[in-house]
Amino acid sequence: MSTLVDTPVQDWRESAAGWRDRLLASPKFRRWAATFPLTRPIARRRAGALFDLVAGFVYSQVLLAGVRLRLFDLLADGPLTEAELALRLGLPREGIARLLGASVALKLVRPRTGGRFGLGPLGAALVDNPAITEMVLHHTMLYADLADPVALLRGERAERALAHYWPYAETERPADLTDAQVAAYTRLMAASQPLVSGEILDAYDLRRHRRLMDVGGGDGSFLCAAAARAPKLALTLFDLPAVAARAESRFAAHGLSGRAQAVGGDFSRDSLPKGADVISLVRVVHDHDDATVAKILAAARAALPVGGTLLLAEPMAGTSGAEAMGDAYFGLYLLAMGSGRARTPAVLTELLHAAGFARVRQVATHTPLLTGLLVAKLD
Ligand SMILES: C[S@@+](CC[C@H](N)C(=O)[O-])C[C@H]1O[C@@H](n2cnc3c(N)ncnc32)[C@H](O)[C@@H]1O
Repeated sequence: MSTLVDTPVQDWRESAAGWRDRLLASPKFRRWAATFPLTRPIARRRAGALFDLVAGFVYSQVLLAGVRLRLFDLLADGPLTEAELALRLGLPREGIARLLGASVALKLVRPRTGGRFGLGPLGAALVDNPAITEMVLHHTMLYADLADPVALLRGERAERALAHYWPYAETERPADLTDAQVAAYTRLMAASQPLVSGEILDAYDLRRHRRLMDVGGGDGSFLCAAAARAPKLALTLFDLPAVAARAESRFAAHGLSGRAQAVGGDFSRDSLPKGADVISLVRVVHDHDDATVAKILAAARAALPVGGTLLLAEPMAGTSGAEAMGDAYFGLYLLAMGSGRARTPAVLTELLHAAGFARVRQVATHTPLLTGLLVAKLD
C-alpha cells in the first residue's frame, strides 16, 4: 500500500509492477512469451493456473457427482469396467464415459488394465472419509449462493442458503435456536472434526492441563478426541443450549459423563463457567466479526485463572501454500453465511492482545491448510 509520501524504493517497486502488468496484459507479449523457449514454461504454467480458475467450478461439480453417486466407495471394492459402472450407478453409457473421462483427468480415478477403472490418488483419499464427503455435499448451498457473486459482494442477496444452514450467524438470539435448527451444521462439524482434532492434539500436549473448556465445542467431538489423548483431563463444553444438549448425549455414549460437562449459553452475552485452566476455540473465531470476537475473548479471559492458556485453532488467512483457502474460499463462504472472515495469525494475535492475552505464539501443525494454532497465555 502506498503511503502519503512514497520512498524512492516504493516508487521504483510501483513502476516495476506497473511495467510488468502492462507487459502481461498485452496479447502481443503473451503470444511471444508462449513461443519463446525461455519464457514458454512460465507462460504454460500461467495459462494452466488461469484456466484452472476459469474451469474450477466444473472440477468441483465432477467431484460432487462422484461423491453423490458414491463412485469412490464403489471403486474401493476393486476396479470395474465402464459398462459395469454404468449399470451399478444407473447412468447411461454417455454419462458414465464423461464422468470417468473427467475423473481420470482430475486424478480422482485411474484407468487400469482390461478397460477397467480404479481409484486415483485423490479419489482414494475420499473413501471412508465423511469429513471431506460431507463438506462436498453441503457445498451445493454455497454454489447456489454464489450463482451471482457480484450480487453477493454488493450485499444484494437477501436469501442465502448458507445463512439458513448456519442460523447463529445472523440471528439476534442464537441461544433460542432449536435442535432442528442446529442439527445439520452440528452433524457436519462432527463429521469434519477428525480433520482438525488430530492436527491440534499432535501440535499441543493437553496432558499438562487439569480441565479443558472447549468453547463453541459443537457436539463434543473435539473433547472426546482430547479425552482419549489426555486420560486425566476434565472436560467442559460450552455451546448454544441445543448444541450442548447434543454434546451431553455424545459424552454419555462415550462413557464420559463423569468426566465431561456440557453447558448451554450464548458466548456473546453470557459469562463462561470457571474452573478450566485451558480454553479452546476451534473453528469458532472465523465465524464472527471483530466485535463478537472481542466479546468471546473477553469472556474466555474472565473465565481463566492467571497463568491460564487459550488455544485458538482454525484455518488462517495468509497460510503459506494455502493462501486461496483463507482469503478466497473462506472469504466468500463466510460472506454468504453472513458473518466472520479468515484472519491472519498477525491479526488474530492483535485481537488476543487487545483482549488482554499475552505471550501469543504460533504452533506449527502438520497441515496448516486444515488448521493453524495459536497459543496465548493470561499473565
Ligand atoms: C463452526 S462450528 C465449530 C464447532 C466445533 N468447535 C468444531 O470445530 O467442530 C461453531 C460452533 O460455535 C457455536 N456457536 C455459535 N454462536 C454461538 C454463541 N453465540 N454462543 C455459543 N456457541 C455458539 C455453534 O453452535 C457451533 O457449534
